[in-house]
Amino acid sequence: MNVKSLLSHHNHYASLGSPWSAKADKVQSITGVMLGCFLLAHLHFESSILLGKEAFYHVVQFLEGGMFSSTGHGFPIVTKVFSIFIMAVVIIHAAVALRRFPAQLGQWRALRRHMHGINHKDSHAWFWQLVTGFILFFLAPVHIFTMITNPEIGPYLSAERVYHANAWLLYILLLPAVVIHAMIGLYRVAVKWGLTRNRAGLRKVAKFLIVYLMVIGLLSLVSYIFIGQDLTLPVTPYRP
Ligand code: HEM
Repeated sequence: MNVKSLLSHHNHYASLGSPWSAKADKVQSITGVMLGCFLLAHLHFESSILLGKEAFYHVVQFLEGGMFSSTGHGFPIVTKVFSIFIMAVVIIHAAVALRRFPAQLGQWRALRRHMHGINHKDSHAWFWQLVTGFILFFLAPVHIFTMITNPEIGPYLSAERVYHANAWLLYILLLPAVVIHAMIGLYRVAVKWGLTRNRAGLRKVAKFLIVYLMVIGLLSLVSYIFIGQDLTLPVTPYRP
């Protein structure tokens, strides 16, 4: 055994036993569950556009605290501040998740061999979570940063962003990556912390949610594109 492999063995076993590793595991699960639940709410709020422009308008005004303003219109600063908070949670989640990434080509090859060797469904789920996590590392901050710098949301303002500012290009990649990542993540946390013993049943729920969220997400994206095509620029915000 050479010095390098000795060191890596030492680091491996040291990290397994260290209290920091257990803490990092908890932080990863807690931030992951927060983000997974946020995504479930987010995609439902956002796809209220499928019920019409007015429905989406009211959802946005409600979330931005319209009931506290004399005009009934919400405050985009609420979106800005909340987006900064979500960005912080994403950064913490990614930082603790990074330690699980196979760092070297050799480790990737071993992982692939392992995946071919055993046909265990949870290993495949873990692999897809790793791949989608890598994609999200680049895509999620772009979207969250846009919501921090340009937090104006509404049927016309969102359609302008999706269609005229070409955000659909980002969303079409972000949607499958985040939906797969989040649903596999919630499944794995539920199994890991012993919430259920019925893995097969839970896997079915996760698969159903992946398809369902993809469908409502894609249909919403198409709605924004249609609304965007009919807009004349510069856009005036929608008022019912
Ligand atoms: C608090 C922070 C966030 C806010 C305020 C926000 C807001 C929005 C809004 C308003 C849209 C509709 C289109 C538009 O106006 O551009 C949208 C779309 C989308 N967001 Fe977010 N978002 C946030 C965080 C996230 C995060 C963390 C993710 C996942 C990593 C995410 C994933 C998506 C996806 C996939 C779409 C496209 C949905 C579709 O295809 O129908 N968002 N977001």
